[in-house]
Amino acid sequence: MPTSVRQPDVRRVYLETFGCQMNVLDSQLVSSQLRAMGYQFVDDWKIADVVLYNTCSVREHAEQKVWSRVGEVGQHKKQRPDLVLGLIGCMAERDGVGMIRRYPQIDLLCGPGELDKLPMLIDNVVKTDVPFRGRPSQVQTALQGNTHRRSATLAAAEDQLELLDLSRSFSPDEVSGAAYVRITRGCNKFCTYCVVPFTRGAEVHRPPDHIVDECRRLVEAGTQEITLLGQTVNHYHYDHGAAVTVDGMQQPQVGAAVKNKGNSFGITLGAVADSAFGRGAAGRRITSFADLLARIHDEVPDLQRLRFVTSFPRDFGDDILQVMAERPRICRYLHLPAQSGSNRVLERMNRGYTVEQYLELIDRIRASLPEVTLAGDVICGFPTETEVDHQATCRLLERVRYKNCFVFKYSPRPGTTAAQRFTDDVPDEVKRRRNNELLAVQSRVSQSVHNEYVGKRVRVFVESISQRARKEQQWGDGATEFQRVELGWEPPTTQLTGRTDGDLIVIFEGSPSWIGSIHEVLVERAAPLTLFGRLAEPVATV
Ligand code: 5AD
Ligand code: SF4
Repeated sequence: MPTSVRQPDVRRVYLETFGCQMNVLDSQLVSSQLRAMGYQFVDDWKIADVVLYNTCSVREHAEQKVWSRVGEVGQHKKQRPDLVLGLIGCMAERDGVGMIRRYPQIDLLCGPGELDKLPMLIDNVVKTDVPFRGRPSQVQTALQGNTHRRSATLAAAEDQLELLDLSRSFSPDEVSGAAYVRITRGCNKFCTYCVVPFTRGAEVHRPPDHIVDECRRLVEAGTQEITLLGQTVNHYHYDHGAAVTVDGMQQPQVGAAVKNKGNSFGITLGAVADSAFGRGAAGRRITSFADLLARIHDEVPDLQRLRFVTSFPRDFGDDILQVMAERPRICRYLHLPAQSGSNRVLERMNRGYTVEQYLELIDRIRASLPEVTLAGDVICGFPTETEVDHQATCRLLERVRYKNCFVFKYSPRPGTTAAQRFTDDVPDEVKRRRNNELLAVQSRVSQSVHNEYVGKRVRVFVESISQRARKEQQWGDGATEFQRVELGWEPPTTQLTGRTDGDLIVIFEGSPSWIGSIHEVLVERAAPLTLFGRLAEPVATV
């Protein structure tokens, strides 16, 4: 194609997101930034001018999906050489240089800590003549590399990525009933299997005033439920007296082992603080996670539901439980991954706690919040995991009684301590069997947890029309679909899906106009992952 082809004034962007909720939020922020600059978003990548994949590196499986997409786009670029292909997120950060060499169809790479630079990168690609774009020297990159961990003296004001969160749109078109708000970026835990500390960098805590203000503005624009996000969300602490908000405690190179030490169970910064919002050792004012939860709950009274993920067991203090117990609009739901039920494996994972400490925490949580629901993550087939270790994890699931637990087969990630120091010695068929056994145990536990709700009333935040109803409307009843699409008509009632305060999925019949609001449902039946019920009575959303 001649290089003089004029780019359309409004470029069409296709953005696909892989992985965690943090990526979902990053994609939302990137989209609203690009929309504000005149880009339009499309659902079909084949009609896009810019294709962006927001990628995940946590497991190899997630990366493979992206490689197959990159291959497809490479083929398509033979007809559309001017198409811009960008990889953003953790894969770009983890393997940037390698990618450029292997995949000449990639035009730009942008790590998760550099997303504020994405519009500039796209612009630079567009300005580069098409025949030059595949060359490694021409690929537009914004990656943190390891420099981010070395600089423990970043002033908060210089923290460019904060600008991305601050640039969030509060236009009613873009704000929905449920929203994510980031409070912490990065991770300092260095669990030996995990790539996140390398791809997302050192832990950085956002200023509490920015967070409270963002929550307030979202609620003013119509948001009812906010989920606070952080890789170790309950480790949030903001030191008001310090020029630095990067926790520079641990700054090793890729692969270096760092021992998880720190707060003991049951005590956090808030718990040892000497004033309402805490004082650090040097007399500096600290906002702990418990303080932040209290502030959001109390200063944003119209917010219906406040939740947070993901909690790190070792940092879960009684001060957080106390704030939750005293504040009804903070959801009684915790995602608190244990990862293994064996002390030997936990030690090798560098998780910094024992099974006994984890279970003691669970007991303390249930004593403070009897109605709490818990979700977990476990990894099976970690190097040297024996049958005895595996059985211990099965017992942990039975003892904790998670409402649901994500089970992952261990996948060695390049650059992590586990990949460098331990042989991946559990055969894949053994991993698969253990995975299935854990899922079977959890399915029994989940059914029994859900059974306890039959006959009870639950408050449900309605998220959408259920998948089944959507399929039926689409394929089962052509007339309805025609009316819906062509005439903008919605059926008066349909099957809806939503979540309880405790994050249990509920399906019931109701009006599509209820999406985005909270209704009370009487539970009639339970399956391992779903409750089924009927409307009890609408709840005033004041
Ligand atoms: N292999 C398998 N599972 C992993 N997780 C993180 N890294 C790996 C890995 N290398 C899982 C953990 C974590 C979740 C997000 O992904 O259980 O909690
Ligand atoms: Fe990864 Fe551990 Fe940090 Fe979670 S706490 S993001 S598993 S290093």
